[in-house]
Amino acid sequence: MSRKPFIAGNWKMNMTVESGKKLIKELKPLVKKANCDVALCVPAILIPEMVKAAKGSNISIGAQNVHFAEKGAYTGEISADMLKDYGVKYVIIGHSERRQYFGETDETVNKRTLTALNAGLTPIVCVGETLDEREEDLTEEVLDRQLKVGLNGIEDIKKVVIAYEPVWAIGTGKTATDEQAQETIAYIRKKIGELFCPKCAEEVIIQYGGSMNAGNCKGLMAQPDIDGGLIGGASLKLDFATIVNFDK
Ligand code: 13P
Repeated sequence: MSRKPFIAGNWKMNMTVESGKKLIKELKPLVKKANCDVALCVPAILIPEMVKAAKGSNISIGAQNVHFAEKGAYTGEISADMLKDYGVKYVIIGHSERRQYFGETDETVNKRTLTALNAGLTPIVCVGETLDEREEDLTEEVLDRQLKVGLNGIEDIKKVVIAYEPVWAIGTGKTATDEQAQETIAYIRKKIGELFCPKCAEEVIIQYGGSMNAGNCKGLMAQPDIDGGLIGGASLKLDFATIVNFDK
């Protein structure tokens, strides 16, 4: 089963209209021959301008969160329909920073994921263990819970992208080794096979995220179960193009 690689940037709370437009303009020619799907998940307020900037290119614009209600009294939140209005295709859900700082739980991840799918958006559902959890040998237990609860009730798991982001590797410069990332992502794929069906598990795109950069992307992408990357810091610069062109 061949899965098309998918490299996505997560700008987090970085960039402005001007710097974002400049970066996308510079990235466009550099990524146009990519053999993978390419997306940049940008701050919500930048979406309209970044969609315009990326027009006519192979860069899709994504969001970094979506509310689970269709609409209503949720001050400060953004609905799936609002994202769709602007041509957003992907949305990151359950990033560890949202779990850590904004009270995101596996239950809210599940609600947001179902809402995104219903609206026709592709959720990028983030899972991953903290350093303490890894050191206490709890990685599989944590992933089991995040996958079981976070993906509960999904009809077609192939419509979901999973991002394995070990929390200890995010923004720390400490990447999981190729072998660690491969081993854990293979475990996630096996678990998806158990929760859904083995055949669908073979089709699900699973990304690695956590200090992935222009230097280490080739080794990670060469692993059989790693289908792509969710890139933080390196997506704020032209290095992102090098990662997108990992196979060249
Ligand atoms: P860094 O690539 O900056 O470590 O961030 C990874 C990440 O959190 C992407 O969602």
